[in-house]
Order: sequence, then C-alpha cells, then structure tokens
Amino acid sequence: MSAATATELTYHDRVVRQFSLMTIVWGLVGMAVGVLIAAQLYWPALNFDLPWLTYSRLRPLHTNAVIFAFGGSALIGTSYYVVQRTSHAPLFAPRLAAFTFWGWQTVIVAAAITLPLGLTTSKEYAELEWPIDLLITLVWVAYAVVFFGTIVKRRVKHIYVANWFYGGFILAVALLHVVNSAELPVGWWKSYPLYAGTVDAMVQWWYGHNAVGFFLTAGFLGMMYYFVPKQAERPIYSYRLSIVHFWALISVYMWAGPHHLHWTALPDWAQSLGMVFSLILLAPSWGGMINGIMTLSGAWHKLRDDPIIKFLIVSLSFYGMATFEGPMMSIRTVNALSHYTDWTIGHVHAGALGWVGFITMGSLYNLIPRLYGQQQMYSVRLIEWHFWIATIGIAMYAGSMWIAGVMQGLMWRAVNPDGTLTYTFIETLRATRPYYLIRLGGGGLYLAGMGIMAYNVYRTVRARQPQPALVPQLQTA
Ligand code: HEM
Ligand code: HEM
Repeated sequence: MSAATATELTYHDRVVRQFSLMTIVWGLVGMAVGVLIAAQLYWPALNFDLPWLTYSRLRPLHTNAVIFAFGGSALIGTSYYVVQRTSHAPLFAPRLAAFTFWGWQTVIVAAAITLPLGLTTSKEYAELEWPIDLLITLVWVAYAVVFFGTIVKRRVKHIYVANWFYGGFILAVALLHVVNSAELPVGWWKSYPLYAGTVDAMVQWWYGHNAVGFFLTAGFLGMMYYFVPKQAERPIYSYRLSIVHFWALISVYMWAGPHHLHWTALPDWAQSLGMVFSLILLAPSWGGMINGIMTLSGAWHKLRDDPIIKFLIVSLSFYGMATFEGPMMSIRTVNALSHYTDWTIGHVHAGALGWVGFITMGSLYNLIPRLYGQQQMYSVRLIEWHFWIATIGIAMYAGSMWIAGVMQGLMWRAVNPDGTLTYTFIETLRATRPYYLIRLGGGGLYLAGMGIMAYNVYRTVRARQPQPALVPQLQTA
C-alpha cells in the first residue's frame, strides 16, 4: 500500500465510503418495509394487531426510508465524491462532513423510532416532528457549507454541470424544508403548522412537488451528469444543452405544485397555473434525458456488454417515461380519473424504482470499486442478474398499478341510466386484489435485486486494497 507524501493532497473519501454503504443498508430496509406494506394491502392481517405495525404508520416509514435514508445517503455521498473530483480539491471542512454523516444517520434512526410510534406532523414527506426538523436543518446547513466551501476552494476555473445540479438541490431543499416545517410546538413531540386551510395545503404541495423536483430529480441529475459520461467513457453529448436543462428545470419546477390539488378548494387560476407549468416541464425533462442517452452515441455496443451502462440508460428511459406521464396526469380532466387511484402509485414507482433506484445503483457500481482500490465489482455477472431481476420487478410493479389505477377510475365513475353508481366501492377493491399480488411479486423481485447488490458490494469491500486517492497536481485557476 502506497502512502501519500506530505506534499501531496488526498481526497477525503472516508465519508463517501460511509454514505455509500449506508445507501445499500437503508435501501434494503426501506424496500423491505415497502414489500411488507404491499403485502398488508393484500393480507391486512399482516399488521398482527400491533399498533406500530399498522399500514398507516409503516407507509410513512417506507417513504422516509427510501427517499431520505436511501436517496439522501446516495445523494450526499456521491456529491462529496463528485465535487472533489471535478474541483480538483479535497473536501472543505472534513470534520463537518463527518458531522453530516453521523447527523443524517441520527435523523434516520429518529424517524425509524418515532414514525412507528405514531409521532407525526401528518404532512406527507415532512412527517417528522419539530426536534428532528431542527436537527435536519443543522445537518443541511453543514452539508451546504462543506459542498459550497469545496466549490469555493476549487483549483480549476470551471464549475462542472453536475455541481450545478447538486448545488441547486441543496439550496432548494433548504428553502423547502424551512418554509414547510414552520410549526408551533405544543409539546416535545407535537406541533401544529403555522399555516391553515387551503394555504397549508398549497405550502405542503409546493414542498411535496419540489421534493420530487429537487430531491428525487435535480440531485440525481447531478449524479447522472457525472457517472453516465464516466461509465460510457465519453463526454456528455451536449454541454450547452446541459446548462439549458439546468436553468429551465429549476425555474419551471417551482410553479407546478398545484397539480397535486386539482378539484380542491384551491382557486381555479392556481390549478391552471400548476397544469400549464407541468406541461412545460416536459421539455427540459426530455432535453436532459436525451442528453444523457445520446452520450452513448457511437458506443451503443456498451449497452450490450456493460450491465452498469444498462442500469444508467434504463434509468434515463424511466425518467423520460415518468416525466411524460406526469404532465399528462397534470391535465385536469386526466387527473379527475387518475387522482386517488393506483395510477399515481404506478407513476411514483416508475420514477422511484426506475429512475431514482437505477441511477443510484448504476452510479454505486461505478463508484464502489474505486473507493476500495479495486478494478471492478466482485462479480459483473451478479450485476447483470441484478439488472434483469429488478427490471422485471419494475415492469410488474408499474404495469399492475397502471392497469389497476385506470380500472379503479373507470369503475368509480361508471353510472347506470337511472343515475345510480354501477359499482360499489367494495367491488372495486375486489377487482384490484389480483393486481396487488402482482405488485407484491414485482416489489419482492426488486428487493431481491438489492440483496444481490448488497452481497456483491460486501465481497468487493472485503477484497479492498485502500489507496489514498491523490488530488491532481495544482492547475492554474
Ligand atoms: C415532468 C415531470 C413530472 C410531472 C409534471 C409530474 C406530475 C405529477 C402529477 C400530476 C401527479 C399526481 C398528483 C395527484 O393526482 O395527486 C404526480 C404524483 C407524484 N409524482 Fe410526479 N410528475 C413528474 C415527474 C416525477 C418523477 C420523475 C418522480 C419520481 C422520481 C415523481 C414522483 C411523484 C410522486 C412521489 C407523486 C405522488 C405524490 C403524492 O401524492 O404523494 N414525479 N406527479
Ligand atoms: C421494493 C420496492 C418497493 C415496494 C414494494 C414499494 C411499495 C410501496 C407501497 C405498497 C406503497 C403504498 C402505496 C399505497 O398507498 O397505495 C408505496 C408508496 C410510496 N413509495 Fe414505495 N415501494 C418500493 C420502493 C420505493 C422506492 C425505491 C421509492 C423512492 C425512491 C419509493 C417511494 C414511494 C413513495 C414516494 C410512495 C408514496 C406515494 C404516494 O403517496 O402517492 N418506493 N410504496
């Protein structure tokens, strides 16, 4: 093992390794809870009559675990890796970076304890009570200081586009969290929002939609703009398009939130505004998707030979699918059919499993061997297996939910000539049951793929030969 000399600078990769491994751990936990609640929807008795195992308490546990624990760890970890490599500088304030790791893990553990106990603000994706909200704020400020501090002390002039996306994600999430979590504590584990009625709903869905736009999209686009060109060994297809993509995406996303509140007490003009901005959002989203996929142009054979590229490119295809479907669902007449049905759940998981999950997995398969001084993962064959099992899983999950959703919407609105409803609600539930079983199978496959990945990572880490990663020699800024 070679050691760096005193004059050589090394990257701070310990925190990247920690976040990467916890991404796998939280992925397994969050998806296992997803499979459990999918099973509960088919066999309700699986809550064993225990309050902390009821569906209503486990559902937010699932969403928090997959979005903030799995997704959050992946985003923070990869951003620390990418910002160092593209800035040719080690992390600013590495101790603060270590604090972000331990702080974020504490938030996750606090969520895993309080949500099953039923302690919740009941605002979707912002369920955690105020003491945890304060800790999130502290960790996030520290994260921003580390990330932007590294950008400031960069030793190359240019700020690579991946950092724009990561930076946009960090700033927007800070704003969303602070505004939406404004609440009045009335006890250690109870608070009330400062907003009331329709305003509360609007603030919540401004937050909720931008959690999708910035947490589940912009941050992962940062990952995409670094790892797709790296794995394809080609420059990004159009750098100019990536800049247009960035500015267009962040300026349009902020206005689309009202599409979550169609046909509610929200004024009509606000609903129409949300719909129009959602339709416009198709353009930057597809621009970004095409930019990512076309990076492979001239090297399409890699799609046949390299399972990591398969993960990355298929993730972009699901990104394209979800960002086509979303604008369609935001049209008020379409939303009248899709809202409250499993169509929404199909849309969510095409984005979550296909886009967020696959871009994370592809990036980690690229990253983990590098972090542990290996040429490649322990088994490329297992990556291939993971890819196919998970892809079949997504097809079963999203396909069954799309069919179930459209069926539910049509059954609920069907009326007889005398004006009475054609179907009782219980009939629609009975018709949905087979699709819940297919979704459970799909989710189980996706989780099994994650298990294969965990084993592959474990074997790769066990064979580690850690080398200090050297910062390239000084360049003139
Ligand atoms: C152009 C991009 C997109 C648009 C315009 C869009 C639009 C929509 C619409 C109209 C709904 C249904 C709202 C309702 O009826 O309640 C929805 C729900 C949702 N979408 Fe998207 N979507 C987009 C992309 C994505 C992506 C890429 C993801 C995931 C990674 C995603 C995640 C979600 C989630 C989690 C919900 C459910 C929110 C909830 O009710 O809890 N969306 N989206
Ligand atoms: C094994 C994989 C997974 C399974 C089996 C699964 C299952 C489920 C189930 C059963 C629900 C509740 C649906 C309902 O209320 O009708 C749900 C909701 C949700 N899941 Fe997953 N999930 C998985 C992975 C993921 C991942 C990786 C993400 C995000 C990165 C995610 C994000 C969400 C979100 C945002 C919701 C709430 C959707 C809404 O309110 O409209 N899931 N999931």
